[in-house]
Amino acid sequence: MDHFELKNGVLHAEDVPLPIIAAEVETPVYVYSRATFVRHARVFKEALARLDNPHIAFAIKANPNLAVLRILAKEGYGADVVSAGELDRALAAGMKAQDIVFSGVGKTASEMAHALEQDIGQFNVESEEEGIELSAIAAAMGKTANIALRINPDVDAGTHAKISTGKAENKFGVPFHKAKAIYLRLSRLPGLNVRGIALHIGSQLTSLSPLEAAFIKAGGLVKDIRGGGAAVTHVDLGGGLGVTYSGKDNPPSPADYGEMVARVTAHWDVQLMFEPGRVIAGNAGVLLTQVIRVKPGGGNAPFIVVDAAMNDLARPAMYDAYHEFVAVQPNGRHMTAHIVGPVCETGDTFAMHRETDEFAAGDLAIFRTAGAYGATMASTYNSRGLVPEVLVDGDRFAVVAERIKPATILAAEHVPDWLD
Ligand code: LLP
Repeated sequence: MDHFELKNGVLHAEDVPLPIIAAEVETPVYVYSRATFVRHARVFKEALARLDNPHIAFAIKANPNLAVLRILAKEGYGADVVSAGELDRALAAGMKAQDIVFSGVGKTASEMAHALEQDIGQFNVESEEEGIELSAIAAAMGKTANIALRINPDVDAGTHAKISTGKAENKFGVPFHKAKAIYLRLSRLPGLNVRGIALHIGSQLTSLSPLEAAFIKAGGLVKDIRGGGAAVTHVDLGGGLGVTYSGKDNPPSPADYGEMVARVTAHWDVQLMFEPGRVIAGNAGVLLTQVIRVKPGGGNAPFIVVDAAMNDLARPAMYDAYHEFVAVQPNGRHMTAHIVGPVCETGDTFAMHRETDEFAAGDLAIFRTAGAYGATMASTYNSRGLVPEVLVDGDRFAVVAERIKPATILAAEHVPDWLD
């Protein structure tokens, strides 16, 4: 459930009519609902309530906006970060360093040192090489890094190839059959407290079976490692739970997920950790846009040209992702159209042959389910500005990320004298 609903024929974010935001902030603009973030955070937490002290770290790559992170920090969430930039955001938002987990295959030495200085809670180490490097850096600093070894369970997540992470050919984690030996070797190194394993098999999962298969493998590994004489006190089960983008999706609910986790992990005797991203943020945001014009198409459908483009919302161009497109003030009539942005490439297409509300130039529309992997993946391609973000709370709203204008971006570029 979200809080983007028609009231008296006008789409609102909570109690704010979207045309007011469009008039004040201009389009395109991301609009987030605080109540929806809070609701999702609580539903996910509630789904894990029967576990013993689960640790929930929001995968902040899904939506790193500072105000969004503050909402989640207040709900008791930690952060899963993948760069020093994300780490600093999590801290700036008020998340506790001890509640921060650092994932990613390419942590640099300076990022590791920075994270150690901040005393973060855990490093999810993705290779033996990384573990050896972290050991040396931590030992030199007189610190001990808590680590979980990320394993690659070689399970097909059944999602888009570009967001699958748990197959043997993917770059993430250590091969399953080598995991025990690597765990035991890293356990002997100074500066490391090797305390668990981590996995994350992919994103936008619409079935629990691949997750369950991966968790069962992880449970076997925990036993195996313990049999080898090392302790395992933590298992990080990652994120990945899908959300509804179109009526055709039928993702498992957080409650079903929680039930499966509780059943599979019942006798593991560890602290479980989670890294949800999309399930918290996806339906908590929309991208508000204006129709520039409706252009007749060569085929039988016209092009609805909107002022948002692939640089603002990359998912359709990158993953052929579906985002529902609806009018802010629907007139009850419908049309079939192609929905495109102004960027000069054919990939800048949000939808082809979409049955949608009827639109004319100047009308406002939203792309739904844009709260996760939306603004954060925006770019300035075609020298367009960086899209702003607005947070709504009841009948008030605030700009929580300003539009970065093309002139500001231009001002950061320099022509060296020697070119003249
Ligand atoms: N943990 C790790 C280590 C991850 O790599 C990810 C996402 C998550 C947690 C959160 O996964 P979630 O709960 O959001 O599924 N840009 C793509 C999604 C990329 C996901 C990358 N990793 C998209 O727009 O669909």
